Amino acid sequence: MSNGGEGMGRFVTLEGIEGAGKTTQLAWVRRVLEARGLEVLVTREPGGSPLGERIRGLLLDPAGAGMAADTELLLLFAARAEHLAQRIRPALARGTWVLCDRFTDATYAYQGGGRGVDPERIAMLEDYVQGPLRPDLTLLFDLPVAVGLARAGRRCAPDRFEAEAAGFFEGVRARYLALAASSPQRVHVIDAEAPVARVSDQVERAVAAFLAGVGR
Ligand code: TMP
Repeated sequence: MSNGGEGMGRFVTLEGIEGAGKTTQLAWVRRVLEARGLEVLVTREPGGSPLGERIRGLLLDPAGAGMAADTELLLLFAARAEHLAQRIRPALARGTWVLCDRFTDATYAYQGGGRGVDPERIAMLEDYVQGPLRPDLTLLFDLPVAVGLARAGRRCAPDRFEAEAAGFFEGVRARYLALAASSPQRVHVIDAEAPVARVSDQVERAVAAFLAGVGR
C-alpha cells in the first residue's frame, strides 16, 4: 500500500549499489519536484535523524567488522523506526514530499541479497516498524558491479560495506533487480552506466510520469 492519501506528501526513494551516482541524481530529483512547487524533505538511510546518524556511525565503522547479521539488521530497523517517527511521518502528514537516499529495499538487497538474511525476517520487521507505509516511487540506479566499484573506489577510505568483495555486491544488485521485477509499478530501473546527462533525462521522465499519475 502506498501512503498517498489526500493532502499527504509522497515518499520517493533512490536505490543502487555503491558508485551508481544516486547522490548526484538526488539533487536533480529535488530540483524537478521543487520546480513543480512541491515542498521536499531530503534525507537518507541509515540515518536521517540525530540518533539515526549515530546508529549509522556504528553500522559503517570498519571497526565493526564481523558484526552479526542480526545485529546489523536490527540496527538498521532501529535507525529506521527513529527516522520514521521523527522526520518521515511528520513530513508526509503535513504534505511535504520525502526524498530518501535508500530505504527498506536496501535492506532486502544488502542484508538479504548480500548477507543471505531470509527475506521473510526482513518482511516481518518491515511490517512491524513501518505498518503499511511503503515508498510511492523508487528509482533504482543500476550498473555493473565492476563499474560501480571502480567509481566508488575513487572516493576516500572504504566504510564497512564498501570493504565487501565484489561477490557481495553481485548479490545486492541481483536482489535489487528482482525487487524491481516484482514491483514494476513502483520501482523504475535507471541505466546508471550512461553519461550523467542521460541518467538525468531518464530520472526526469520517470518522475514526470509519476507526477502525471498523481495529478501534479
Ligand atoms: P550510503 O547511503 O552512503 O551509500 O551508505 C550506506 C551503506 O549502508 C551502503 O553501503 C548500503 C548500506 N545499507 C544497508 O546495508 N542496508 C540498508 O537498509 C541501508 C539503508 C543501507
